[in-house]
Amino acid sequence: MGKSSLELFGLMVEKIDLGVMVLDADMCIRCWNEFLSQRTGKPQAEVIGRHFLRVFPDADKSSFGEMVELAQERGIHVYNHWLQEAPFVRLSGEVGQQPMQSTLFFPFFGQKGEPLFGLIIYDTGTIAKSSAQLESALNALRSNQSEQDQLLRKLEAANSQLLQSEKLAAIGQLAAGVAHEINNPIGFVFSNLKTLSIYVRDLLKMIDAVEDAVELDEIRQLKRQLDYDYIRGDVEALIHESEDGIDRVKRIISALKDFSHIEEEEFRSADLHRGLDTTLNVVNNELKYKAEVIKEYGDLPRVECIPSQINQVVMNLLVNAAHAIEGFGRILIRTGCEQSEVWVEIEDSGKGIEPRLINRIYEPFFTTKPVGKGTGLGLALSYSIVQKHNGRIDVRSEVGVGTCFRVYLPIKQPVESQSQEVSA
Ligand SMILES: Nc1ncnc2c1ncn2[C@@H]1O[C@H](COP(=O)(O)OP(=O)(O)O)[C@@H](O)[C@H]1O
Ligand SMILES: [Mg+2]
Repeated sequence: MGKSSLELFGLMVEKIDLGVMVLDADMCIRCWNEFLSQRTGKPQAEVIGRHFLRVFPDADKSSFGEMVELAQERGIHVYNHWLQEAPFVRLSGEVGQQPMQSTLFFPFFGQKGEPLFGLIIYDTGTIAKSSAQLESALNALRSNQSEQDQLLRKLEAANSQLLQSEKLAAIGQLAAGVAHEINNPIGFVFSNLKTLSIYVRDLLKMIDAVEDAVELDEIRQLKRQLDYDYIRGDVEALIHESEDGIDRVKRIISALKDFSHIEEEEFRSADLHRGLDTTLNVVNNELKYKAEVIKEYGDLPRVECIPSQINQVVMNLLVNAAHAIEGFGRILIRTGCEQSEVWVEIEDSGKGIEPRLINRIYEPFFTTKPVGKGTGLGLALSYSIVQKHNGRIDVRSEVGVGTCFRVYLPIKQPVESQSQEVSA
């Protein structure tokens, strides 16, 4: 190294914010920079040529000795971190603050080959401070995280409550529809029973007459009088019609039972078409005055799902479709299977969704329907149900033409979500 660069190094060492000293083989101080003078209050002239331990009588002799030995015998750089105070020099004298210092002690040879040692002392207080800041930032983050976790849990609870209340609202809506639907068959079955009871009374009268009649003509006359031929024809019709009526009621009730599965929360393998038909039966009352329903079912394997929840999604989509239709329209229900997933599509010929609103339809409480008609929860809950099933919902819509919602579901649930409980 040329002289001028050595000089530059010298100047730099005088300015640097590190304590830099050179010791000879006897541990006497050979160089001592400005920083050390300032921090220790000992000028260069006072320390040069003196033994290190004389200058720092308080230094921990044994750890100093250890350091020297390591550097001398193994010729290595020895780094020391004193979490509190270096055993020999105090650099930052601020009271009350724990100084943190590190040292680097290393051997080198002078120009004439004489063994020398460099000792660099540096303040790690600032590093400590920033690491403390980092620590507290981390802590803040951690507490933030736990707050967020708590919020998430609350949200989940609220969500499941919403799901519950939407279910209740849906059940209310259904109950009205079902009442209407059952009312008609029950009505005519009841009136048929009344007529039948009159017929039975007349028929019994004729049979009783057989006992008392003297002549066959008397009975024939009674038969004519009571219009036996008419009764005979009508009885069969009445019984047949009543059976039909009771059958309809039975179908509705079994559909309702299928539909609700109130306690069912577990994933199980299910026939989606059966669920679709069941749901159609249940919402039929709401659909039949609004649209012709066309089913185009594909071939579907059994799908691992929570059937009552999927039914609810389908019901929400069907009801929305019916609501979107002004006058009388068409609702298409298609299904299909692609590799590892199945899809169910509900397409309507309704008024469509404006492009500026399409991103909002899954928002809870977003509704374009008048108060009382829409809760704005149907799609939000459908979305969360489908998400819990590891599926997705796509929507295509054109104003004035119609809307098509397509729900994709995996045929098999990924392993970890099978066991996980899904709230409804
Ligand atoms: N098939 C559809 N056709 C047109 N608009 C729809 C359809 N489905 C949903 N929407 C729009 O999305 C909104 C949100 O739907 P939803 O979450 O079911 O709530 P709600 O039916 O109670 O309004 C509806 O108000 C409507 O504007
Ligand atoms: Mg809705």
